[in-house]
Amino acid sequence: MNIIEIRDNVFLLNTLHTSYLFKLNEHDHLEHVHYGSRVLPEDHDALSVKHWTGYGTTIMYDEKDQTYSLDHIPQEFGTYGKGDLREPSLEMECKGSYTLDLTYDSYEIIDGDTKIEGLPNAYGCDRTLLVHLKDVHNGIHLDLYYAVYYDTDVISRRCVLINRSGSTVVLHKLLSYCLDLSENDLTLMSFTGAWNKEAHLTETDLERGKQVVESRSGFSGNKTNPGFIVRKDNTTECNGKAWGFNLVYSGNHYSSVAKDEYGVLRIQGGISPERFELKLKNKESFCSPEAVLSYTENGLNDLSAHFHDFVNEHIVRSDWKKKERPILINSWEAFGMKFTKDSLLKLAQNAKELGIEMFVLDDGWFGRRDSDLRGLGDYDCNRRKIPGGIRSLSKSIHDMGLLFGIWVEPEAINPDSALYEKHPEYALNENERGLLLGRHELLMDLGNAEVRDYIVENVTKLIDENDVDYIKWDMNRLMASLSGIENHDYIKGLYEVLERIFIKRPWVLLESCSSGGNRFDLGMLCYSPQIWASDDTDPVERLDIQKGLSYLYPVSAMGAHVSASPHSMTFRTTPLETRFHVAAFGAFGYELDLGSISSLSKKEIKEQVSYYKKHRSTFQFGRFYRIDEESDYEVFEVQNEEETIVAKFRRIVHAVPSFDKLCVYGLKEDRVYAVDAREFNHNIKKFGNLLNYVTPVQLNTEGLLVHSISKRRGFKEGTQNYRASGRALRYGINLNNLFLGSGFDRHLRLSLDYGSDMFLIKEVNDESGKEE
Ligand code: GLA
Repeated sequence: MNIIEIRDNVFLLNTLHTSYLFKLNEHDHLEHVHYGSRVLPEDHDALSVKHWTGYGTTIMYDEKDQTYSLDHIPQEFGTYGKGDLREPSLEMECKGSYTLDLTYDSYEIIDGDTKIEGLPNAYGCDRTLLVHLKDVHNGIHLDLYYAVYYDTDVISRRCVLINRSGSTVVLHKLLSYCLDLSENDLTLMSFTGAWNKEAHLTETDLERGKQVVESRSGFSGNKTNPGFIVRKDNTTECNGKAWGFNLVYSGNHYSSVAKDEYGVLRIQGGISPERFELKLKNKESFCSPEAVLSYTENGLNDLSAHFHDFVNEHIVRSDWKKKERPILINSWEAFGMKFTKDSLLKLAQNAKELGIEMFVLDDGWFGRRDSDLRGLGDYDCNRRKIPGGIRSLSKSIHDMGLLFGIWVEPEAINPDSALYEKHPEYALNENERGLLLGRHELLMDLGNAEVRDYIVENVTKLIDENDVDYIKWDMNRLMASLSGIENHDYIKGLYEVLERIFIKRPWVLLESCSSGGNRFDLGMLCYSPQIWASDDTDPVERLDIQKGLSYLYPVSAMGAHVSASPHSMTFRTTPLETRFHVAAFGAFGYELDLGSISSLSKKEIKEQVSYYKKHRSTFQFGRFYRIDEESDYEVFEVQNEEETIVAKFRRIVHAVPSFDKLCVYGLKEDRVYAVDAREFNHNIKKFGNLLNYVTPVQLNTEGLLVHSISKRRGFKEGTQNYRASGRALRYGINLNNLFLGSGFDRHLRLSLDYGSDMFLIKEVNDESGKEE
């Protein structure tokens, strides 16, 4: 296994299926050569962009070499001032000049990981290459780190700037990496959105010019996730080349993808340079966060698999690494802040009866918090709502045999709170023009050690004194006017707080949340094995959100719950089975009042919970595929050695649908598989007047009788069982037809708007003819 090969000034980093190659050229610069499929060191010459005499206006690096301009050289790190007119990855002012010329000094190979001062990074790398660069004219040094995560096909990059100039310098921008790719016909896939619309896939043709993926809200943000993909135009889920990028960072980020006049793409990313200004004294240094890069030539599902394995293997820590997550019931969409101890216990009791494993008390349990106007910053339990306090509630929940989780929002403070009355200075007054509130909140000043201690003390007390098993860590206040460095210090303060609380309590399951998925990033995943993907729990909307996130993050990292229908935001009515089928592709739970649903719904939920438990490890840790064979459907698949599960999500039904297929990826072609659809009950009210075709007496289908029967009895469609080879399933088998308004028989499937089917696929054992 040649992880790092260095020969004749050629540096080759290998992962299982990819190679990253650069070389030291005749001008002592690191010249990027290749990031793609596995190659040999000897290939460097053939793979290199050839040096050439530029057009007349080109600035030459050295008058003696008329074939060498930095503007034409693919580089490992772009700087300003010596002829490279593309966007630099580093901008700083040293002794009145912005010019930098970083040339090679030496390299080291480090076995395993390195640590970044004040920032989380991935762990468990196989080897790290450290290349020292320096500017011989001004004493500025730059260390480039390349960490190889061999099995997951990931290479990470980061750098450290060290000032040895003898005087103070001003740093304006230090990105984590720069990659100059000489490739044509490319598309940028970014994941953009808003509150309740996180991670929607946005595709942009990469023409001449610059595309930017950035966040300016103080967090990695829901407007644009820091992760993005550059793919060949013709790449699909199963075929073709793609390069993926992400950052282990939760603050303001910036990545740019710029195509120059020769078609070379400069891709670079890191901390946002906006309003970033840091004075670095002599001998001081500044570390960039770690950036994560991956490449595939086998389509987007394969690229996602690299990222999923990487997150599960090298980002998530704690006892919950690769451990099945409990099914939870959360009180938020059930009760909001209006609850009593009795209503909470009733919800927990109902959940227990249905097989749910953890009860989570959401917002509203502390201080004067009856609305989001007040209370944040306080940790005393509101005993009017919960007599006996959290300890007694937690005990009752544990006595029922459930785990106990609780919501906190420690980074924010309401001006109307006991804490603010006592310590107004704990709040970060972002704006000298008066209080600037967002959801009636201010930020806590995490740059202040006393504030960090206050949070650590209160959250650890809450956990330790009440035997808390799970924390939902929320954050709902964005940043409006902090400078770049203040934002960075805030994020470092947050990491310190999370480190002090959770690294010492690895048994506590942390779910991070920020008004839904406003901080869905690899930095947070270093502390919280799962993140609440969105406050939008409408399953139709969730399909886009979870699909978008799935390009970069594994199913086990995405909090996803079944909520009530009609949905509280979209007012859309969706079938219970679809709400389950969507949430099952996530760290799964329920978030609705189980006391106000029909006995039929309870029965259905009980079956869902037991189905999920049976297949939980496949859902959470199986290999995930997006199946892109049918445009009318969204199709998700998870697969492990034992089984495969595919869910087909229909959007709008047509009266004359096309014949419906099932296509499955990743099976062994020559094996035979049994395919069984998950059975569930349809609510009979869905059938409206059609009921009168099958009942002996005439019914008023909107009347009380039908309403009351519908609460107890459902209608099961015919069972669907198929048998086919892996090859036929990859091609796509025909499913039973959809009901078209007449002639129902038990082989027909029912079509409904937002309906869905879930199939379990298992290999058939040859001798017995039975499923394995
Ligand atoms: C945020 C979260 C929600 C819920 C509320 C409580 O919006 O994203 O899930 O916890 O806060 O106020």
